[in-house]
Order: sequence, then C-alpha cells, then structure tokens
Amino acid sequence: MTIHIPFNKPCIVGSELIYVGQAVAGGHASGDGPFTRRAQRLMEDRFGAGRILLTTSCTSALEMAALLCDLQLGDEVILPSYTFVSTANAVVLRGAKPVFVDIRPDTLNIDERLIEAAVTPRTRAIFPVHYAGVACEMDEIMAIARRHHLLVVEDAAQGVFAKYKDQWLGTIGHMGCYSFHETKNFSCGEGAH
Ligand SMILES: Cc1ncc(COP(=O)(O)O)c(C=O)c1O
Repeated sequence: MTIHIPFNKPCIVGSELIYVGQAVAGGHASGDGPFTRRAQRLMEDRFGAGRILLTTSCTSALEMAALLCDLQLGDEVILPSYTFVSTANAVVLRGAKPVFVDIRPDTLNIDERLIEAAVTPRTRAIFPVHYAGVACEMDEIMAIARRHHLLVVEDAAQGVFAKYKDQWLGTIGHMGCYSFHETKNFSCGEGAH
C-alpha cells in the first residue's frame, strides 16, 4: 500500500473565485489594483508596518531588499546555513558574498551567539530567516546590527502572522519579506511584500 502525504495543502476558504471574478470584472486582473491596495492596507494596519509593498513573490521582495541595502561587489551578508535558496541568491545577484552562520538545533534558525564572530569590515547586513514561522532571537540580532551599523532584512517567508515577543515577524528589522506562495501560511498562488 502506498500512502501519499502531501507536502502542503493550500488553505482555500471559498471566496477565492468570487474575488478573482471581481478583479477581472473590474479590469485589474494584474497587480497594483484595488485588491493589492486592500492587502497592503490590511497588513499595514494589522502588523503596524511602516509601508507594505506587494511584489510578485518573496524571491522578488528579497532581491528588491538587497538592492535597497545598496550591496556592492565584495560586500558580505550574514545569513543562516539552512534556508531556501532565494535568501542567498538575493545577495549573490548583487555581487555580494553570503556568509553562512550555523543554525541552532532547537529552532533551526541562525545561531545568534555565532553571528558577531562572522562580522568583518565588509559586512553590510544580516538576513535572518524565521524558519517554519519560529522567530529568530531578534533582540540579540538587532543589538549586533546596531553595534556594527548593519542593516537587517528579515526573511519572514514562512512567518506571516507569527510574532517575536510582542512584535510581528517581518516588522522588526529594517525590511521584512513575506511569501504568499501556495506552500505558505496564506496563499495567493505567488505574491509577497
Ligand atoms: C525561507 C524562504 N525564503 C524565501 C522563499 C521564497 O518565496 P517565494 O516562493 O514567494 O518566492 C521561500 C519559499 O519557499 C522560503 O521558504
């Protein structure tokens, strides 16, 4: 007997086709229409986030964040040794060097106790990943960033509506990226911020 255990089951609540119908009928089947604005406003309100910008995926959001960090050839970015490839690709695409720091066995997140030893004069940013929606030790990571004048970009692809202490994941660093891929907590096929 073969048992198929699906990798994921997208959460379908029943209103999807109605909303897609409204988007098509309203002439905004692509992005940046009324539904995009509603989603952006909802996340700004619920997460207390400064500004939300919907992109086509978390991969695009991470690549935009790396651009906004103004990474230059030879700059270094600290990230966990265990993540999805988009986190590292965003860095490599700018000509910067990903510096992988080992993860904690209990959370599978970057081990905050090992980060400072990986900082060099070329380090520009830390990209922590909240694996499976479990928060990284953000107090310690932000303190290290402040000490060394580094930017922090949270890869919160798997952490929509998850918290670290009383703060929403994705809103603690200087930038945060979410995924709305079909395999994530909330799905719109693709889509991110
Ligand atoms: C940690 C992490 N970062 C980034 C991504 C990329 O997300 P997307 O599929 O929305 O581009 C994923 C998706 O699996 C992920 O798990």
